[in-house]
Amino acid sequence: MCGIVGVLGQHEVSPIILDALKRLEYRGYDSAGIATVHQGTLDRRRAVGKLINLSDTLVHQPLPGRAGIGHTRWATHGGPSVANAHPHQVGRVAVVHNGIIENFRALRAEMTEAGAQFSSETDTETIAQLASHHLDQGMTPVQAARATLKRLEGAFALAFVFAGEDDLIVCARRGSPLCIGHGEGEMYLGSDAIALAAMTDRITYLEEGDWAILTRAGAQIFDAEDRQTSRPLTRVDLAQTRVDKSGHRHFMAKEMAEQPAVLQQALAAYSGAGGIALPEGLDFARADRLILVACGTAHYACQVAKYWFEQFAGLPVELDIASEFRYRAPVLGASNMAVFVSQSGETADTLAALRHVRGHVGQVVSVVNVPSSSIARESDVVLPIHAGPEIGVASTKAFTAQLQVLALMALEAGRARGFLDAATHAARMDDLRAAPGYIAQALDREDEIRRLTEMLANARDVLFLGRGAMFPLALEGALKLKEISYIHAEAYAAGELKHGPIALIDRDLPVIIFAPHDALFDKTVSNMQEVMARQGRVMLISDAAGLAEVDDVPHWLQMPAVPPLIAPMVYAIPAQLIAYHTALHRGTDVDQPRNLAKSVTVE
Ligand code: F6R
Repeated sequence: MCGIVGVLGQHEVSPIILDALKRLEYRGYDSAGIATVHQGTLDRRRAVGKLINLSDTLVHQPLPGRAGIGHTRWATHGGPSVANAHPHQVGRVAVVHNGIIENFRALRAEMTEAGAQFSSETDTETIAQLASHHLDQGMTPVQAARATLKRLEGAFALAFVFAGEDDLIVCARRGSPLCIGHGEGEMYLGSDAIALAAMTDRITYLEEGDWAILTRAGAQIFDAEDRQTSRPLTRVDLAQTRVDKSGHRHFMAKEMAEQPAVLQQALAAYSGAGGIALPEGLDFARADRLILVACGTAHYACQVAKYWFEQFAGLPVELDIASEFRYRAPVLGASNMAVFVSQSGETADTLAALRHVRGHVGQVVSVVNVPSSSIARESDVVLPIHAGPEIGVASTKAFTAQLQVLALMALEAGRARGFLDAATHAARMDDLRAAPGYIAQALDREDEIRRLTEMLANARDVLFLGRGAMFPLALEGALKLKEISYIHAEAYAAGELKHGPIALIDRDLPVIIFAPHDALFDKTVSNMQEVMARQGRVMLISDAAGLAEVDDVPHWLQMPAVPPLIAPMVYAIPAQLIAYHTALHRGTDVDQPRNLAKSVTVE
């Protein structure tokens, strides 16, 4: 979602801010802007669409200044337009903002009553109006910013610059992440360390409720009670902030290709002398129930994991999507373990669900890709998935890495609860160790998959089917296809077909079926026959043994024969590649599909 950058530099900052905004493009945005202070004068440039449009604007109307803030906006209040783009400037102050100001209507009415003229539909402009009002009342810029912050409700990160102040940025974090970068006689601000990677690896993460005064000499940080405080300065591993495509056409292609290496890396990170070495504090023996909460792809990873925790650990699992979880009345208990799964670690709904259970369950655990994220910081135990930065909006390597960490947890839970004997545990660990090799074999089928997807390019709808752990895989396949090719796709448990969706089947409907030759194969094939009997265009994805048992399937893809535990990781590859190549056929923007944001920091 929205991205924030701020620079107090020794040189012209517009090009530096633009470059940093480019590094945030992956988060998804629909307009962008920069404001600078030059010889005391505050000015700004904004443009709708990609950053190239802002860059063009800056060529024709340069924006001098050595202090400035920049923003990429993902529209919430008011559509994408120049008027709604950030920074919002009112009088002597300009503001950039991520998140949502929940009381903006009341504030807007109050400011309008006081004579303010609004020029946008955004909630953000109320922040600028309030700060400007305080400046007009004679407050200093820092006082005005502070007084403004006290009036705001909601979840946000924001930064202010002021006319007449070319060595000052005031920033605040409440609900949305923000970090400060330290340079040589320069200071930076970013919504994540990736934005600042070209400038510095010395980062201070603001904590929830913090606000800060930045000058070129350093940062003064205050907590939510206005007490001056210090937050640790950390060195960010630059490898974790690399955002190049390494010769691939898209980030998504690179990230899919990285999966064997990522899984190997993560497995190594969790390997110890006695097998699996999970972080201390994770106590499956005292858990009587597991609550898995996540959104989107991460939720589908949890859905696969439910089968594993039940099968390998005999542990009851409750599963929910984060945006629903806290709006029902979930029954929570001290012996429950709640696990929150999130690539970004910043998803607003997942974070809110975590806060909802805190104090009501025994253990709060997170499985994240960003260990410095809010979800990680607020958990009792954190299991990083070690996938490295995921830039493509469609989650790929994070999904398989989440699956792997959840599989390790399920096996460890089985061991800790005495449910899994040592030999079975060792055999399943061998399966996990074999996964990277099988994933590499699945990736080798890319050409075949590309040819198969030609039949999807002009489809209006696509149906995905699977049983057991292949059902969440079908859901993931449909989500990937929708996201990046914009083709309507649905997924069903194959057995549900005749309870409604079979009415959709005709000769125009492609039906993609994930069916490894496992205990459920025959049942899935029966459902496939029902589709074929109605002229549905079946594409069966199975292994040699499975394909040998069926004939007359019009389209098929042969996968390696794999142990059931790792089938979801391996079958994730065709799910991803089908979406990717269909999107290429259709010419959509694979890495930044329309309307989508990488890190969903609003509810
Ligand atoms: C799909 C996708 C989204 C995310 C979801 C949760 O490809 O990327 O569905 O999985 O927005 O995001 P995280 O995992 O960051 O909480």
